Amino acid sequence: MSGNLVEDIQRLKVKRKAVILAHNYQRPEVQDIADFVGDSLELSLCAAQTDAKVILFCGVDFMAETAAILNNDKTVLIPDRNAICPMAAMLPAELVQLYREKYPNSKVVLYINTLAEAKAHCDAVCTSANSAEIVNRMDSETVLFGPDWNLAQYAKDHTDKTLVPIPKFGFCPVHILFNQEAILALKKLHPDAEVLAHPECPPEVCEVADFVGSTSKIYRQALVSKARKFIIATEVGLIHRLKKGRGDVTFIPAYEEAVCAHMKLHTLEKVYLSLKHMRYEVTVPPQIMALARNAVDVMLETRETLT
Ligand code: 13P
Ligand code: SF4
Repeated sequence: MSGNLVEDIQRLKVKRKAVILAHNYQRPEVQDIADFVGDSLELSLCAAQTDAKVILFCGVDFMAETAAILNNDKTVLIPDRNAICPMAAMLPAELVQLYREKYPNSKVVLYINTLAEAKAHCDAVCTSANSAEIVNRMDSETVLFGPDWNLAQYAKDHTDKTLVPIPKFGFCPVHILFNQEAILALKKLHPDAEVLAHPECPPEVCEVADFVGSTSKIYRQALVSKARKFIIATEVGLIHRLKKGRGDVTFIPAYEEAVCAHMKLHTLEKVYLSLKHMRYEVTVPPQIMALARNAVDVMLETRETLT
């Protein structure tokens, strides 16, 4: 170790032929050393296209698993293996199977925020960037959708299908914290501000937002908008990227304590140790891998959604 962590990481990255992918909620210093920062859909596309030998994934379990599903010939590493998404854990594979038996004529669309074992039992995967488009592609009248109840409501408003949320009420413990009253109060204080919200927020929050989209769609909206102030209703990590992209405007978090502790587990030191010791490897059992891959591929074929 030279004493300069960033230089050490860059050196090891070259030695390992690695690419560093980071989600928009990562710590600022982790975003800054990444080769690519993005939302779940963009990170999946990057993972599908990279020719690196090693993918170091700074995100949560389901994201690194998706990279592994798309790359059975590469090594996928996660700097801290405790970085899990509690929402993904709300929908085990057995529950998907039970719902499938209950609704035999329905297709199943699962949010990418699910474990690989659950993805193996669905017809298509979606992200917050393309939920309605993927649901609309299903050839059944009823679509089982999970685990996020809020995203299911958002998708339902943008499709004619009947959506059945599975489980009954899956949620993100971070986005559930946003509430309409607080946002309306902020809007009163900053009447010229545009409200940008993530669809994992409750429907009444999305209702008062000027724009609803994935983390990268929020980023792109802030880049093109004429507004000078933005109220941001998603995990606060995105604000670092927003400020880098538009240093000339003001970003106000809708709730400052909206922090995903799991996303924040990755630090520069852990990134360094991960590359040094080639740990912690993320693998998916082969029988799950093939089935989950089909469902992820259905989503990746819908490229026009990356707008
Ligand atoms: P995005 O795909 O919009 O980045 O969302 C991922 C996520 O986990 C949101 O909580
Ligand atoms: Fe999961 Fe919510 Fe964290 Fe996103 S913000 S990774 S949905 S717990």
